[in-house]
Amino acid sequence: MLIHPGGRFDNSAADNRYIEVRPLAAAMGAEIFGVDVERITDAQFAEVEAALFRHKMICFRDQKLTHAGQEAFSLRFGPFAEDAYTKGVPGHPNVQPLVKEAGARTGVIFGSGWHTDSAFLKEPPAISILYGVDIPPYGGDTMWANAALAYACLSDTMKAMIAPLKVRMSMGRVLSEARAHNKADDTPIGRLAATREQKELSDDVVRKVNGAYHPLVRTHPRTGEKSLYCDQTYASGIEGMTEEESAPLLAFLVAHITQPAFQCRLRWSVGTLALWDNRICVHQAFNDYDAFRREHYRTTVAGEIPR
Ligand code: SIN
Repeated sequence: MLIHPGGRFDNSAADNRYIEVRPLAAAMGAEIFGVDVERITDAQFAEVEAALFRHKMICFRDQKLTHAGQEAFSLRFGPFAEDAYTKGVPGHPNVQPLVKEAGARTGVIFGSGWHTDSAFLKEPPAISILYGVDIPPYGGDTMWANAALAYACLSDTMKAMIAPLKVRMSMGRVLSEARAHNKADDTPIGRLAATREQKELSDDVVRKVNGAYHPLVRTHPRTGEKSLYCDQTYASGIEGMTEEESAPLLAFLVAHITQPAFQCRLRWSVGTLALWDNRICVHQAFNDYDAFRREHYRTTVAGEIPR
């Protein structure tokens, strides 16, 4: 059912003393003002973390962050997560470069398709932190959708039906698309494309394709909020169901979560830093800026086994 904002929608800002919060859309997202992220105080950090859990995605403009500064900010939320796709930049193994050169045409870009980050891991990352360094004059936006609000807007009967289900999250679809559409190179997707030439997949890739079973409805460990844990990119089946049974259910849930009412969209500028809570929202990048360069750096914060 196509939802219109109202009722359960409340993306208003909480009362804050040390930061200013301006919500981005009816469903989710907020821009934070009054913070220099490299010099954030403990009092500001407490409000920033609460704002992240409340709005699911938050962003700061005009930040001047070194890799070390991004690492330090990231570590305030918790230890680094396993990096499922890259090895980081020299000297900063946990700072993942996401760079697409001007004129580079790729079939699949990193982050395209609605997803929650590295959901195929046993302990997927809780929070992702993305810093924009080179931004196309247009295109290259990122969109998010609020999976907790999407859950809240389901009927009680649907909620009861899906409550006990476990979803299989697998890297398989990304691997197949990379092999079908991308050239082999030293980018996260290019490295997957390069497996075309290999007789056998590495144990690491096999582990990620086998993936993990997670609750389809998960409970946020800090706020207790329930959300749908399901996406277009990694969700590939339901435990105990045939493909014919699970595919329509997953397709419905993905269409439900990603409908316009639950979304917000970020137009990046140089120095924008965005954070999102993977436990409770999905996001996607666009492959719509072929003529232009885009350079971002990402850190991820370790999560828990979803429950
Ligand atoms: C991601 O999926 O983490 C990347 C998003 C983006 O590049 O906009």
